[in-house]
Amino acid sequence: MDRIKIVGGQRLKGKIPISGAKNAALPLMIASLLTQDRLTLKNVPNLADVNLLARILRNHGVDHSVDGKRAGNNQHIGETFHLTARDIVDTTAPYEMVSRMRASFWVLGPLLARMGEARVSMPGGCAIGTRPVDLHLMGMKALGAEIDIDGGYVVARAPKGLRGNRIIFPKVSVGATHNVMMAATLAKGETVIENAAREPEVADVANCLVKMGAKIEGIGTSTVRIQGRDRLEGAVHTVLPDRIETGTYAFAVAATGGELFLEGARPELLETPLDVLRRIGATVTIEEGGIRVSRDGGHLEPVSIETQPYPGFPTDLQAQLMALTTTARGTSVIRETIFENRFMHVQELVRLGADIKLHGDTATISGVQGLRGAQVMATDLRASVSLVIAGLIADGETMINRVYHLDRGFERLEHKLSACGAIIERITA
Ligand code: UD1
Repeated sequence: MDRIKIVGGQRLKGKIPISGAKNAALPLMIASLLTQDRLTLKNVPNLADVNLLARILRNHGVDHSVDGKRAGNNQHIGETFHLTARDIVDTTAPYEMVSRMRASFWVLGPLLARMGEARVSMPGGCAIGTRPVDLHLMGMKALGAEIDIDGGYVVARAPKGLRGNRIIFPKVSVGATHNVMMAATLAKGETVIENAAREPEVADVANCLVKMGAKIEGIGTSTVRIQGRDRLEGAVHTVLPDRIETGTYAFAVAATGGELFLEGARPELLETPLDVLRRIGATVTIEEGGIRVSRDGGHLEPVSIETQPYPGFPTDLQAQLMALTTTARGTSVIRETIFENRFMHVQELVRLGADIKLHGDTATISGVQGLRGAQVMATDLRASVSLVIAGLIADGETMINRVYHLDRGFERLEHKLSACGAIIERITA
């Protein structure tokens, strides 16, 4: 299994191109199931999760091709995918595939809406909590589907098609919002989703669905109104930039010192994390075509934050923020309110010399003078990249084992960082 070796202590300086957002690319690809016509997606990041989902979609009968690109050519622009689900040949999403990536569960809504049936394995994904699917099922039932659980599979049927309804989610769920919104585009009549997720990736998918002919109001708000249509058409859509990747590199340079220009990043997608960075002591400047983040020799201030659904501080940046606060001058408090078990990075950060105490959903981080390199283990996607940040600030060598999670969500991470002065290399087993 690949490992990543980092020799810490280098300041980052240079330009990092921001890739298309994984969390938008995945549901956008799934939206191709809603139409017989071709959906073209530009700026798709080259990631393990994206490639796995492409396999899952091919299994359902989606024709998938990628525009050719010469090596080294416009690497930051991302790939162009053409997806055509002319005939859906299989409405089962098997355990072997869905268990490896939770977002593939979201094929449920589109398959059900278009084919009147779907058999989708209960998901797996990052080990960051129990991550139930009750809200997805609640949404599908409200749209008139019959749901059974059989042998680890969700078996959903709507032989006469789905019917619009009013759905009030008791809790904000990104995935359930995607799933229900996509299904509702082909339901009869109007669907209103209350307490919908407002994440920019949900809005990106909604905008693409509108290009495909869907009628959606309230995009980007917590009340989304969808008028069902008989069919959707093809469209061309560009995946929005990845705000989590943006935030990760912004936190990395705040941690190491130096200056990075995050090319293609859109500041309006991550106002809360950028505010936190300023409070911590980094300089954030919004420029034409990207965001510049820098920190000179000054010390880092401690912060207290809790994770919240968008526009609050994202859970997907919690681990990276924690790595940054390990060397702040004072005590920081980070409360995780979205996933109950998203603290696997804590033990590993402690191995690098951090002083972190955990009480339930709250981590208290007492800043230390510096971290020291060690062997650490990557556990989930965002935890893995927090160890990269910690490795960049630690004295000496840090070896991160089991890095496959990183490849699920960060495109060309070690290239992007080494181009900016980091000493980081992948050791292929
Ligand atoms: C998505 C993101 C993930 C991010 C998360 C929260 C993708 C591919 N993944 O995951 O990176 O960390 O949003 O911003 O976009 N829940 C239920 N029942 C359900 C569904 C969810 O109780 O049926 C709970 C979850 O356990 C969690 C909370 O709701 O506590 C939020 O989860 P959700 O927003 O659904 O996360 P995902 O869509 O899986």
